[in-house]
Amino acid sequence: MKLYIIANRLPVKVANPDGTFVFSRSEGGLATGLDSLQTSYEKHWIGWPGICTNKEKDKVEINTKLEEMNFHPVFLSDANIKNYYEGYSNSTIWPLCHYFFAYTLYKYCFWQSYQEVNQLFCDEICRLVRPGDKVWIQDYQLMLLPGMLRKKYPDLCIGYFHHIPFPSYELFRILPERAEILKGLLGADFIAFHTHDYMRHFISAVERVLHIDFKLDEVQIDNRTVRVDALPMGINYELYHKASYKPEIKQAIDRTRKLFGNHKLILSVDRLDYSKGILHRLHGFATFLEHHPEYHNKVTLAMVIVPSRDHVGSYAELKTKIDEEIGSINGRYSTIDWTPVCYFYHGFSLEELTAMYYVADIALVTPLRDGMNLVAKEYVATKYENTGVLILSEMAGAIVELTDAIQINPNDTEQIENAICQALEMPEKEQKERLKRMQAILSVQTVNKWATDFVNEMNTICAKNEWLR
Ligand code: UDP
Ligand code: G6P
Repeated sequence: MKLYIIANRLPVKVANPDGTFVFSRSEGGLATGLDSLQTSYEKHWIGWPGICTNKEKDKVEINTKLEEMNFHPVFLSDANIKNYYEGYSNSTIWPLCHYFFAYTLYKYCFWQSYQEVNQLFCDEICRLVRPGDKVWIQDYQLMLLPGMLRKKYPDLCIGYFHHIPFPSYELFRILPERAEILKGLLGADFIAFHTHDYMRHFISAVERVLHIDFKLDEVQIDNRTVRVDALPMGINYELYHKASYKPEIKQAIDRTRKLFGNHKLILSVDRLDYSKGILHRLHGFATFLEHHPEYHNKVTLAMVIVPSRDHVGSYAELKTKIDEEIGSINGRYSTIDWTPVCYFYHGFSLEELTAMYYVADIALVTPLRDGMNLVAKEYVATKYENTGVLILSEMAGAIVELTDAIQINPNDTEQIENAICQALEMPEKEQKERLKRMQAILSVQTVNKWATDFVNEMNTICAKNEWLR
């Protein structure tokens, strides 16, 4: 039996910088998390390979290489990328689900393309799926897909996981296509979210938009039961926790230590995204420097920003503002031997990233909204008998589990400033105790446990539905 994981993006992305195809790891929590998943099923992925090409020869070459890894590419056109990916997915749904109502754009061509691409994914699944296989659909780019598949295969076992926040009904109702989206999702047998709050918002949206009532966590649709649950996604804990023992990571740790000298290192790692609170973080750090000259030349903020969706206007504008803000802080405070913000606008390899997690004295994670935030979990997991403090926004899904972080409201600059001071002054013993308590949680709620729980619960509800038929 096969488990088909369906996501907009495959865990590898393809680029063609100089005429030859290069395959590299995709960034983003969904791809990094699910890629390290181990399951008893034969695991297959269906998704976009991250490149647009019209040449059949190229498609065949990419397809052959990806099929070796059980990755089945869905090729999207430039118009699809513009209207489905940058448009409906990332200019309509993403800002709405992250409470950035003012950033939300509505265009009919976005919606048309969203339907078209969901149908393309549906066609690819129909080509591959066999009786008894399971289909697990991921995230907001594919919310119509469960409904489309259900029409083709009334008996297919379908799950859906929503990796981003599901907003309150008051926001969701703004979406012109709210009913179609909810009906699409209800094509699944099992729907899950990172937190109970997102799940409750979904239930209330279904009840108020479609006028159907849930009984606790279940709702009856035709002759099927649809179940919902909250299952927080975890990480590959062992991979991070044991990382500092690997020779290649040890070398990277030494290099990182040399780079930042004796300075206390504050680390932040995000995709370029307005939901991540990057400007709020920079304002907090600037205020900290302004009010605490005693820390000048002693503390460095290493800011890793992975380029993302930079053809979307709101992302491109954010990039300009970040560049300006960092320039302003460094211009004001830099000395011959100290640059307060060390800025990287590119992704890092797993080895380099883990080394930075290991070395950093503080991780400063300040999203204004975030479905989960795996970076916070990876930072905590990577610590091994050494110290470190996590400062984490109350608006990240991860806060539900990481209650031993210093919690901040990212809209409050003073709180960020105070949290940095508290972290810098926290006794080693307290740092280790807090890390230990958080690690105890992360080592149990791993990505494998998350996926196993999801698939088990999906199977239970599918078995019940089969019995009812
Ligand atoms: N990441 C990466 N390379 C980088 C920076 C980040 O692979 O240079 C990964 C990071 O390890 C994490 C993911 O990107 O697993 C980001 O996930 P998160 O949930 O924090 O945010 P998302 O990007 O999904 O919104
Ligand atoms: C978040 C979303 C994912 C998405 C990832 C990277 O984690 O939940 O669905 O894949 O960001 O974004 P991108 O637009 O580059 O795929």
